[in-house]
Amino acid sequence: MTRSVDAVESVLAARLGLDAESLSPGAVERAVARRTQALDLDGPCRYLARLLEDGTEWPALVDEVVVPETWLFRDGGPFEELAAHVRSGRAPSADEPYRVLSMPCASGEEAWSAAAVLAEAGLSPREALVDAVDVSRRLVETARRGVYGAPSFRSPEAEVRLGARRLEDGRREVDASLRPYVRFHVENALEFEAGLPLPCYDAVFCRNLLIYLTPEARRRLTLRADRLLRPGGLMVLGHAEAFTTFFPGYVPSRRPRAFAAQKPADGVERGRVPAVVPRESRGGSTPRASTRSVGPRTPAAPGTVPLSSSPEAGAALLVEARRLANAGERASVERLCVRALAADPASVDARLLLAETTLAAGDSPRAEAELERVLYLAPRNETALLLLARLRDRAGDREAAARLRGRARRAARAAS
Ligand SMILES: C[S@@+](CC[C@H](N)C(=O)[O-])C[C@H]1O[C@@H](n2cnc3c(N)ncnc32)[C@H](O)[C@@H]1O
Repeated sequence: MTRSVDAVESVLAARLGLDAESLSPGAVERAVARRTQALDLDGPCRYLARLLEDGTEWPALVDEVVVPETWLFRDGGPFEELAAHVRSGRAPSADEPYRVLSMPCASGEEAWSAAAVLAEAGLSPREALVDAVDVSRRLVETARRGVYGAPSFRSPEAEVRLGARRLEDGRREVDASLRPYVRFHVENALEFEAGLPLPCYDAVFCRNLLIYLTPEARRRLTLRADRLLRPGGLMVLGHAEAFTTFFPGYVPSRRPRAFAAQKPADGVERGRVPAVVPRESRGGSTPRASTRSVGPRTPAAPGTVPLSSSPEAGAALLVEARRLANAGERASVERLCVRALAADPASVDARLLLAETTLAAGDSPRAEAELERVLYLAPRNETALLLLARLRDRAGDREAAARLRGRARRAARAAS
């Protein structure tokens, strides 16, 4: 790879938070080649100069590199959880509508699905709104059109729930009645402000972006998402994005495959978190507060070590865990790693030791999950990359294994 492509990767990391390692191998190189050709330039070096000098090139590069994968009612569970959150919460009004943020929204399927849930709950567009944000201009244009082909309709009930109308070319258009619920914005999620006093959202869908970001950008995005979400609000992540890693103080939903958790309410009794924090009742509406037992948890700052945690305590437990690992006391090692992670969820070393221990015990699914978490925190961790490659090999996914080994080689080169 040329130094110019390296430099473009650095620009993408600095402006977008994108970690080129999270994309398929050579993705940025190919994007640069396509843009170089489209602009009829003489090689990647000239392209880099154009990118840095000409502000109009940036959006075109963004459109080339982003991963646009999405579909209507993706994963199902998050939208059931949203419906439950709307039902169990305060009564929204025109002054205080129920607000959902879909960020990133890609081509808009997530935002239209949320709008359908709000409409099904009987809320009018004055009482419920969806803000949908994505950095890709091209994808937001598609989102605004609300016209989709078959790949967006993978969920069987999507067509009916969106009241979708078939067009002559076979594509389908979301029903006009949903349009007033949704506003689309072309913006960088790392900088999105909402233009309202914060926190202002009752639910934040922040799905399938963290996995593509550098550790620093993940930290920025989780802090921002937390600031945007009201206490008692619903946070939804992608299926591979763990709350224990990104929002350690949040209370996970019990709904299977909801990938959702609730932000702890301020000043609540430890171990009991209101399902929804009611706000002042307006216009005679009655706020409906509900509580559920969630077991002892300590609210913590998202994206970082929890406020109440102690990295020192975690480190001390890890020293003991390593000693026991050398002595072959596997069960105790696992227990100590879990305790070390409770004290310091950002500890890469504790997670890696836990992964190695569970792998040695033959629990491959758990080891794999832990290794993926290690890579969220430290995308260039060579040991995690190689262990995960071995697991993918065993599962017969040679292509993924080769990709991981390639990443491990690059990580080793970068470290030397
Ligand atoms: C895989 S899609 C996720 C869409 C949807 N949330 C879902 O889970 O179905 C990832 C999206 O993130 C967007 N994206 C990447 N970096 C971004 C950033 N810094 N700010 C806003 N959007 C970003 C991309 O344009 C892309 O549309």
